[in-house]
Amino acid sequence: MFASSSIIAFSVFSLLSQVSASPALHKNTTLNSPRKIGKRCTGEITSLSDVAAAEECDTIVIGGFTVPAGETFSLTPPDGAMVSLTGELTFGFQEWEGPLMEINGNDITFDGGGHDLNGQGTLYWDGLGGNGGVTKPAPLLTLNMGGTFSNVQVVNSPTRAVAVNGNSLTVSGVIVNNAAGTAPNSISNGAPAGANTDGFDVAANDVTITGCSVNNQDDCLAINRGTTITFSNNVCEGIGHGISIGSISSDATVSGVTISGNTVTGTVNGLRIKTDATATGSIVENVVYENNKVSGITAFGVLIDQSYPATLGTPGTGVVIENVSFDDTNTVSVESSANAVEVNCGSTSSCTGTWNWDGLTASGGKGSTIKNAPVTGGSGF
Ligand SMILES: *[C@@H]1O[C@H](CO)[C@@H](O)[C@H](O)[C@H]1NC(C)=O
Ligand SMILES: *[C@@H]1O[C@H](CO)[C@@H](O)[C@H](O)[C@H]1NC(C)=O
Repeated sequence: MFASSSIIAFSVFSLLSQVSASPALHKNTTLNSPRKIGKRCTGEITSLSDVAAAEECDTIVIGGFTVPAGETFSLTPPDGAMVSLTGELTFGFQEWEGPLMEINGNDITFDGGGHDLNGQGTLYWDGLGGNGGVTKPAPLLTLNMGGTFSNVQVVNSPTRAVAVNGNSLTVSGVIVNNAAGTAPNSISNGAPAGANTDGFDVAANDVTITGCSVNNQDDCLAINRGTTITFSNNVCEGIGHGISIGSISSDATVSGVTISGNTVTGTVNGLRIKTDATATGSIVENVVYENNKVSGITAFGVLIDQSYPATLGTPGTGVVIENVSFDDTNTVSVESSANAVEVNCGSTSSCTGTWNWDGLTASGGKGSTIKNAPVTGGSGF
């Protein structure tokens, strides 16, 4: 009697827990990889040969080890899995295309425990980044996952650090530390040794990056496409290129971007939208900057430029930028050799809608120019 009722109770419970776990899986449009049901077990990974077995489990623990040179540590946990890192991952040196690591899946919780992903960039850096010289694997980490990814230090990426390609993802507490690439080395001809070391490159929907920091030699953030993207309470420093939307090439949509509460210090640019001069069929719409503190900028505090890859060259008109606002209080201060605000649009139909910049206070610099854009409000430019 007791035995049979407890069996019934158990099977009702397991049915209920399956039903309650399933709604998230029905967000078909945001699946990053095919649905995958895990077993109730803990899989441990201390070498790449452990990965296949561990990927069956709903809990995965990754110990510290060296990923062999020339191989991608590719992990596809089951939907809803918990993944943790308990030591440093070092990626062996080899000239190849990469990526060094990728995580695929849906509704994954990844906690790095503050440990390092070490790309050993110092062994690759030659000042040329992705433009020749040593072949450098990139990116260090590709996130094709949804869920949360947190508490990791990405150290010395050969070039690009983190590619965010997964929908429905929150990234928090990630430090991208490429500070060692700022000084020249013996083969960089006086240039910073690290180059093209983007912090976060985003091409995905429903993405939040919050409470992270980036010290590098290229964009802190670069959004290439996607809808509903929030970049909040992050720090960008070093000699990087600031917070960017773009560059935007043809047939791309960026819609609904909030850049909020970030601190950008000492970098080349502060806040930027760059669209390719020759691009067609693309849209950047509904971009909001709020409560950002940008200071010590050496080239452009705010730069919206439709002439990429030129800077303030002849702008194109094939990418429509609609609705760009500065809300609440954004402060942008630049060095005397810099420009506080430069807007270089191809026409008033390619830069259109409402550009209310009441929440922007700029200071410093040698001047500002607004060309072909409906900017209203703001001060100091
Ligand atoms: C996923 O969505 C597409 C349309 O967006 C639909 O055709 C397909 O049947 C859906 N698949 C599942 C498994 O729900
Ligand atoms: C731009 O903002 C205006 C309100 O200022 C709004 O009516 C319009 O729909 C917005 N454009 C887009 C593409 O959302």
